[in-house]
Amino acid sequence: MRHDHLITSKQLSRGNIENILDHAAEIDDDPSTVADRHAETLLGLLFFEPSTRTKMSFETAMKRLGGDVVDMGPVDSSSVKKGETLADTVRVIEGYADALVVRHPKQGAATMASEFVDVPLLNAGDGAGHHPTQTMLDLYTIRENAGLDDLTIGIMGDLKYGRTVHSLAYALTNFDTRQHFISPESLQLPREVVYDLHQQQEGAGIREHDSLEEILPSLDVLYVTRIQRERFPDENEYQKIAGEYQIDADTLEAASDDLTVMHPLPRVDEIAPEIDETDHAAYFEQAHNGVPVRMALLDLLLSDDKGIWGDGDE
Ligand code: NCD
Repeated sequence: MRHDHLITSKQLSRGNIENILDHAAEIDDDPSTVADRHAETLLGLLFFEPSTRTKMSFETAMKRLGGDVVDMGPVDSSSVKKGETLADTVRVIEGYADALVVRHPKQGAATMASEFVDVPLLNAGDGAGHHPTQTMLDLYTIRENAGLDDLTIGIMGDLKYGRTVHSLAYALTNFDTRQHFISPESLQLPREVVYDLHQQQEGAGIREHDSLEEILPSLDVLYVTRIQRERFPDENEYQKIAGEYQIDADTLEAASDDLTVMHPLPRVDEIAPEIDETDHAAYFEQAHNGVPVRMALLDLLLSDDKGIWGDGDE
């Protein structure tokens, strides 16, 4: 795989991740250091699935770096409606843009698309696969709130279809973390992901649970996710577990005062709004971190002298 495409968090070593997060922190402190650094750069946005945060924060990031975006717009008004393939679409748009951001409902779509283009391509979510740029802002938020080493994290909800979970879990194996996965049995992590996690982290600190209760008091971070209704082959299966695995103020009574609650958003009913005003809530801060983190990623990808793989170990 070419190193200037970002498809999965498996591509990133601890050194790569720290390099990105450190650069994001510099930008967060003083965005003027990079303003206009990428004037005249155009980022191509190809979103074949709904998005608010990911798309708008990429757009904000590119504009804050002095560049601009070209957006394919809704699938319904694009040539995809006429039957154009993803391979053809990306080959056309790479002629208009300096880098591409692709979100697609099919797992593996970003890998396939990246094989057809020479400009850097960033995976903004491929079905139930991966979402590595979300992981970078998740890690940034975890580092700010709890630190990335000696971390005990609970990841709860739809672990089967949740691509943010898959990408985050792989990335966390680079750090000294204990990962607790909490879900109904039907939405457990795919077995191949569990296998990979054990391979990546020796003596893997990985545990699976069907209830939050037993481990909540030990957690530094609780990462809550939405049940991915759109990925269920059968709506009845969704209805069976909808509404489970919610948290409210009562749930958090058993938690440490320092617990950080995160969520990639959008939430449906997983986190009661009463938690928003507590010191636990970090999910809006997490969404806002999408801008400096994506600015850092784009700056590294688009600068000849830097690159995301700057430490030379990938
Ligand atoms: C997530 C996604 O699209 O995977 N959203 C996001 O990018 N912040 C999570 C979700 O849709 O539940």
